[in-house]
Amino acid sequence: MLSKPFISVVLLCVVCLPSTATAEREQAEMPEFVSRHLMATMRNHLEALEDISRLLSERRYDKAADLVEQHLGMSSIEMHYEKHVGKYMPSGMRSLATEMHGEATRFAVSARNAEKAGGSDEMFAALADVMGRCVACHSAYRAQ
Ligand code: HEC
Repeated sequence: MLSKPFISVVLLCVVCLPSTATAEREQAEMPEFVSRHLMATMRNHLEALEDISRLLSERRYDKAADLVEQHLGMSSIEMHYEKHVGKYMPSGMRSLATEMHGEATRFAVSARNAEKAGGSDEMFAALADVMGRCVACHSAYRAQ
């Protein structure tokens, strides 16, 4: 049987884990106007995911591909970084951002294929990969 002190230590670790993870996130130092712009971009990303999920539920794959490319894909980079946000990102964060835009473009391609095939599992996996990049960056970096 496990001893009480052992169980207490395990429980304490489990309870403390989220706050430890938060404390370890790297702060991206940037002027306030840049972080405000970044947060507005983030809210736009989330809105885009909502719209994309809705379009997929309606099987409008081509439209979802257009939307993802416009808001999250490689062609959206110029629009999002007009305030040179990328310049203020630590290099690891910049790589995660570029990876996310790449995943979004890959999702757009599989959504276009799904339009022809009438749906596809690969497309949903590609969407999960996009979200995986959101999660990866949020677990590693913070703006304040
Ligand atoms: C390259 C890094 C990076 C990527 C990729 C990223 N984010 Fe963020 N996001 C951040 C940072 C940093 C914050 C600020 C978090 C903090 O300070 O606690 C943030 C905050 C947010 C917020 C809160 C905005 C607010 O007004 O407070 C939302 C919503 C969000 N992100 C959505 C997303 C979504 C959806 C994706 C993927 C499609 C995404 N983000 C991808 C770095 C990123």
